[in-house]
Amino acid sequence: MKSHKLLEGKKGIIFGPLNEQSIAWKIALASYREGAQLVLTNAPIALRMGEIKKLSEECGQAPIIAADVVNNDDLKKLFEESVKHFGGKIDFILHSVGMSLNIRKGNHYTQLNHDFYHKTLDISAISLHRVCQLALEMDIMNEWGSITALTYIAAQRVFPDYNEMSDSKALLENITRNFGYHFGIKKKVRVNTISQSPTRTTAGSGVKGFDAFYNFAEKMSPLANATAEDCADYCVALFSDYSRKVTMQNLFHDGGFSFTGITETIVEKMSE
Ligand SMILES: NC(=O)c1ccc[n+]([C@@H]2O[C@H](COP(=O)([O-])OP(=O)(O)OC[C@H]3O[C@@H](n4cnc5c(N)ncnc54)[C@H](O)[C@@H]3O)[C@@H](O)[C@H]2O)c1
Repeated sequence: MKSHKLLEGKKGIIFGPLNEQSIAWKIALASYREGAQLVLTNAPIALRMGEIKKLSEECGQAPIIAADVVNNDDLKKLFEESVKHFGGKIDFILHSVGMSLNIRKGNHYTQLNHDFYHKTLDISAISLHRVCQLALEMDIMNEWGSITALTYIAAQRVFPDYNEMSDSKALLENITRNFGYHFGIKKKVRVNTISQSPTRTTAGSGVKGFDAFYNFAEKMSPLANATAEDCADYCVALFSDYSRKVTMQNLFHDGGFSFTGITETIVEKMSE
């Protein structure tokens, strides 16, 4: 995609780039291509792997600041250092963070470890509330700023192997609506989620039966699955001034999957 400089002069914080497969990685590259200045962040343990340095180089030596999304002190430090680095307030924040301890341990939805469940909800959903609350309290967002988080359709429909992440995404989307209301009234800041197609990443591939999910969605989507690069371009639009009145929404970005009942390809498969 050629640059249209849609984010010229804008400053953003990107949560969640782990490796080149990460959706946040592609979003950082697309935002940089469109003229944004960035700060990159991830959990301290993820930064130890070191891959993010490559992304920083590709994004004009964007600073990398460690922050565990469930630690308010880390988030405060991240926001303070970002504002200092940019010499001004922030225009957009990407929340691209998810982790399920029960999926990692192979626990079935009917046999969850509830301490893990709390942790999963905290990392994958309540963290968006933490980010929004601190951003509001610290007054770090410019008017018409945009906060965008990534979600999945398992928040609305049952995908059994998505397990407790389904509950996380439902909470994430509700926080988006509630905080979007308050942030809109107080500071004219937008909060939205993008509901992305299955995408081959570290977090995505951790879900049992991911390949079947992926292939089924591919055949059920009139435009085929949206890639991470497609998602990045959509995020650019949401960070830009071309979506100033879009807020409190869950925006499906899935090649049409969410509104397709059945496709001819699936009918043919089922008739075999
Ligand atoms: N891959 C898919 O199929 C898919 C589909 C729809 C939505 N999503 C969502 O997209 C987002 C990004 O996931 P991805 O697929 O790019 O995978 P990913 O594994 O590349 O990204 C997940 C990120 O969350 C970070 N993270 C985990 N715990 C953290 C913590 N405590 N503090 C800070 N960061 C932490 C990880 O380090 C990692 O960078 C997630 O919200 C995911 O649920 C993914």
